Amino acid sequence: MSYRMVCFQRRTVRGLCVGLIVVASLWSLAAAAQSPEIPRGKHGDATAEYQMERLKQLSGSWDVTQAPAGFDPVVWAAFIPQDNPMTPERVELGRKLYFDTRLSRDNSVSCATCHDVTRGFTDQRPVSEGIEGKLGKRNAPTTLNGALLQTLFWDGRSPTLDHQARQPILNPIEMGMPDEAAALKAIRDVPEYQEAFKKAFGREMNYEDLGRAIGAFERTLVFVDSPFRKFLRGDAAAISPQARAGWELFNGKGRCMTCHPMNPSNPLGTDNRFHNVGVSARHQDFEALAKKAVAALAEDPSEQKLDELAVGTDLGEMGRFMVTHNRADMGAFRTPLILNIGITGPYMHDGSMATLWDVLDHYNKGGEANPFLDGGIEPLALTEEEIDQLVAFLFTLTDARFAEENQRQFGAQQAAAKKQRPFRDEAMALRQTLPFEKRVTGEKTKDK
Ligand code: HEC
Ligand code: HEC
Repeated sequence: MSYRMVCFQRRTVRGLCVGLIVVASLWSLAAAAQSPEIPRGKHGDATAEYQMERLKQLSGSWDVTQAPAGFDPVVWAAFIPQDNPMTPERVELGRKLYFDTRLSRDNSVSCATCHDVTRGFTDQRPVSEGIEGKLGKRNAPTTLNGALLQTLFWDGRSPTLDHQARQPILNPIEMGMPDEAAALKAIRDVPEYQEAFKKAFGREMNYEDLGRAIGAFERTLVFVDSPFRKFLRGDAAAISPQARAGWELFNGKGRCMTCHPMNPSNPLGTDNRFHNVGVSARHQDFEALAKKAVAALAEDPSEQKLDELAVGTDLGEMGRFMVTHNRADMGAFRTPLILNIGITGPYMHDGSMATLWDVLDHYNKGGEANPFLDGGIEPLALTEEEIDQLVAFLFTLTDARFAEENQRQFGAQQAAAKKQRPFRDEAMALRQTLPFEKRVTGEKTKDK
């Protein structure tokens, strides 16, 4: 379908069509995939009461001082920071804090606003909405299985969950607290918290411990029991023949496993490294942005400033470069874990891809040409049947406890992909057009 026709059909975006089509389709998909019966608050997130109830059903009982079922205790212990052992008191305190909107300046936002239990522990929006309805520039990753990652954030600027949890509270467009003291003040007078901090840490309330408590809670969000895991353990019938064909493509023609390794000892599907796969290259002039980024960070090199720039400005499109200032990292982002991928759309660091079909179309055409593109990205010549097989495989990576939501998202994405495939480019996928031609001839690359 041509651009013009799509624009014509979508009256609301006619005129402003370029770029907006994708955003509009993301929103209509989000609406279609909603579960209607859930009570929701101001930012569209399920109410805290509803989320907590749902979490109880999902988690079941687990002695948090032990490794989760199916994990080797030695391996699990390596994921727990030395200064923050898992105790029921810390986990319980962290759970309260995760759902508490008092930690935001306008009392309307908690971690659970953007990492919502009923939405795959993300917000299922392209980019997140914080206090006073402010929109950031980045897509919220899921908090599921964050315990197993080596670095956090799309650019890996945070080393641990305990450290990460302290950032959004102070971010001006997320939870907006002016400083640590203000955040503590907001909960200091709640007697329940005073007690809970004492019990959990044996000392006065402080900001580091607040991060530790939330981190301990997040380490309980281990959800890896997918049909694919059963398949890996030898139950061939756990996934469909179509998904099995997708798994072969994932390791073969699709070359996905070079960055998203999946095997019994690494079930996450990330190499924990940073790659430019061409997502931000669609919009940005890297050289100009790099200069601005270096200047802004020279003026204020604090981690809070970095967080502010990464989440709230176009400089964040530089990805890992913002952390290392290494040219090789321009436009590079951490390979995301792809467990539970069916329920954590829209996709990529900027939420620019509504469906897994879009993601496959992007890879199939060899990403987006740019001088920093990872060498592992090249046109794949996948057929439509093969793309369907890969998508079917990706939908088997969702924990069985979210099976219903996974099925609903599959239906909504399939319907959206039938209407529109904005990233599809067969000529590029089949190398009939070569990706670097445009740059060499000086023509600007832009959205197809
Ligand atoms: C306004 C929405 C919003 C709020 C509120 C919010 N987050 Fe996030 N979260 C995001 C976005 C967006 C990112 C990605 C930012 C980036 O990579 O620069 C993120 C990233 C994360 C990550 C990293 C995941 C990964 O795969 O690297 C974790 C963990 C996380 N948030 C936990 C929390 C916790 C804990 C809180 C509460 C203290 C919280 N978030 C509050 C939107 C939000
Ligand atoms: C060169 C490394 C590399 C290869 C090869 C690769 N990926 Fe990725 N993948 C990434 C990175 C990095 C991102 C995040 C990019 C961004 O947001 O800018 C990503 C993002 C994704 C996402 C979106 C995840 C989310 O939470 O938003 C999916 C799904 C995905 N890849 C699947 C695949 C599949 C399927 C293949 C094979 C066809 C593949 N990838 C090949 C590195 C790679």
